[in-house]
Amino acid sequence: MNQVRIREIHTGRQPLGECRVSGWVRTHRQSKNVSFIELTDGSSMRGLQLVIDPSLSSYAAVAARISTGCALSVKGNLQQSPAKGQCFELHVQELQLVGEADPEKYPLQKKGHSLEFLRELLHLRPRSNTIGAVTRIRSAAAMAVHRFFQDRGFVYLHTPIITTADCEGAGEMFKVTTLDAANLPLVEGKPDYSQDFFGAEAGLTVSGQLEAESYACALSNVYTFGPTFRAENSNTTRHLAEFWMIEPEMAFCDLQGDMEVAQAFLVAIIKEILERCGEELEFLEQREWSDKKLVATLSSVVASRFEVMDYKEAVAVLEQSGRSFEFPVRWGMDLQAEHERYLTDEYVKGPLFVINYPKEIKAFYMRLNDDQQSVSAMDLLVPRLGEIIGGSQREERHDVLLQRMREMGLKEEDYWWYLDLRRYGTVPHAGFGLGFERFLMYVTDMHNIRDVIPFPRYPGYARF
Ligand code: 4AD
Ligand code: MG
Repeated sequence: MNQVRIREIHTGRQPLGECRVSGWVRTHRQSKNVSFIELTDGSSMRGLQLVIDPSLSSYAAVAARISTGCALSVKGNLQQSPAKGQCFELHVQELQLVGEADPEKYPLQKKGHSLEFLRELLHLRPRSNTIGAVTRIRSAAAMAVHRFFQDRGFVYLHTPIITTADCEGAGEMFKVTTLDAANLPLVEGKPDYSQDFFGAEAGLTVSGQLEAESYACALSNVYTFGPTFRAENSNTTRHLAEFWMIEPEMAFCDLQGDMEVAQAFLVAIIKEILERCGEELEFLEQREWSDKKLVATLSSVVASRFEVMDYKEAVAVLEQSGRSFEFPVRWGMDLQAEHERYLTDEYVKGPLFVINYPKEIKAFYMRLNDDQQSVSAMDLLVPRLGEIIGGSQREERHDVLLQRMREMGLKEEDYWWYLDLRRYGTVPHAGFGLGFERFLMYVTDMHNIRDVIPFPRYPGYARF
């Protein structure tokens, strides 16, 4: 007999009649005439109500050992439910206790647990409604990302995870080495990486952008979607040491085109999540930390045009806000979370592109504007979170790029291949990076980035 997933039942795709369902017990209520079990298999927000005659022998033999969290496999007769609020129920004919969960020891009881508590039990928390919902949305969003780019002829590119190129030039790379830390070979007082596994100092990638540029300058439009690592010591609700990033890179594209793709991309994924994950969104919107406007907000974002503001204008808005910020506002500063939140939460009350940042606070590869002061950069800010996308038009002029690299103290010989792209058939090109977890925080209304990735890594923590 076919095993059915509970989602198939609730969507009406499973015909009434005999079927087999397997999953984990949420609740078990016994009485003299009838017993009820709510079973869940993680395919849906909703569980399935099992209706059991207590005299059924396969049930009676194990009833005392059925408790929250134990695994069951049951055969029964699927029927329309007379009870209010639930469409289907399974009248059990045969029940098998597959795996027990000692109620004295099982840490997840049916009452709700705090997210902090669940973070201590990363291996069991997918059984909670909240993490289950977030995980299904994460999966649907990942598919939507691929669909968006594949439908538009972008080529999916796998960029290296181990690399010797520090893309952001920010020195936030984790080192990858097989040298013995207790017995380092040294030259002139420094580790001799020529004796290391790769014969050079290597690390985990902070971004696949530079490699993506090399493929965009051949295949025109490409995108990456992979893990990214940053050894920044940011112990915040928006930073992870290991996160996933989506980085499209487009040849023959300028900053304007870059922003158009970024908006179309976000809108398409949000639309798909609204269509496919309605139950999950409704559930998350009812959590105690939610402002109860999640679905309305996402629906309005899909229908709106994102605002665009020059960095200069953003600074002026902040100066005129009458707010006293912890980090004082002046031209040339990097926007801090508090500034981003004022601009997006309070000033435009929606997503906002800030463009043309001062060159000093942005990466070496961003295209220098004619004013010689700013670069063709764009950050997309959203309410509650601030930056979720960082992107730019790239500097395609060899000599300007070289000059910028020298100003920023980067070694030309480390980037010889990147400069080659400007020597041979160089073209205007642009791209951006969307932090997948930042995006998920936005669409799930989760307030801590550690709750939208299955096994978060952050300073002081890489368990499981
Ligand atoms: O702004 P970032 O550093 O840009 C880049 O890496 C470019 N190479 C992207 C490109 O143009 N191809 O990072 C891009 C995004 C940020 O906007 C943010 O959403 C996310 O990556 N991000 C992080 N997410 C979680 N934890 C961290 N520590 C993050 N750092 C950046
Ligand atoms: Mg950034």
